[in-house]
Amino acid sequence: MEILRTEGLTKTYGNKETNKVTALENAEISIGQSEFAAIVGTSGSGKSTLLHMLGGLDRPTSGKVFVDGKDIFSLDDESLTIFRRRKIGFVFQSFNLLPTLNVYENIVFPIQLDGSEPDETFVNEVIDAIGLTDMKERLPNQLSGGQQQRVAIARALAAKPAMILADEPTGNLDSKTSQDVLSLLKVTGQRFSQTIVMITHNEAIAQMADRIIRIEDGHIIKGGEQND
Ligand SMILES: Nc1ncnc2c1ncn2[C@@H]1O[C@H](COP(=O)(O)OP(=O)(O)OP(=O)(O)O)[C@@H](O)[C@H]1O
Ligand SMILES: [Mg+2]
Repeated sequence: MEILRTEGLTKTYGNKETNKVTALENAEISIGQSEFAAIVGTSGSGKSTLLHMLGGLDRPTSGKVFVDGKDIFSLDDESLTIFRRRKIGFVFQSFNLLPTLNVYENIVFPIQLDGSEPDETFVNEVIDAIGLTDMKERLPNQLSGGQQQRVAIARALAAKPAMILADEPTGNLDSKTSQDVLSLLKVTGQRFSQTIVMITHNEAIAQMADRIIRIEDGHIIKGGEQND
């Protein structure tokens, strides 16, 4: 079943002819439920631009993004924010943990922000799967980089989003820890039927995905559709 689809997705930055950059042009992507897709491409090729639009963080110049059949940019900003909070979990290279909240509190914070009650059993299951059970009470500054990254991943999973979008989630980690964190992300995603779209520069990590989407100079050159 398809969870994510784009149609002619195009993003141009800058308005004057002189500083215009077409970061993404006519991108057509289709991703199935529970699929794990990696986006690879050189620096400046348009990966983050694409991911931001897939998650509704930025509006395209033209084209559409459908999540779960819904044209997300037909929503006004407020509805888009709510939609994003409920359907999408983001993991960025910087962990963005709140320093005064402990591990458990950080993980459930977005759920509470949405005015919902966390599903405690589920949250604890995620924490267990990602190996943080003994660290629930710790503050972020009492954790290693890899552990903080796992908290950020648990936080993305805990709200049961349909999709996890990750931009270089292991960019700050050594290769062994990166592989461990990625395995956890993959296993947990599968266990909870979550779709994962992840940007990486690391070929070994990209190989862990079900599919590799290659982007070059703003164009999807391979892997955009489910079977190419
Ligand atoms: N806010 C912006 N204003 C102007 N140009 C931008 C903006 N954001 C990105 N760009 C340009 O758009 C192009 C694509 O940028 P993007 O951030 O998507 O690349 P990327 O593939 O994520 O690169 P990296 O691997 O270095 O993170 C680049 O040429 C970049 O300079
Ligand atoms: Mg980027």
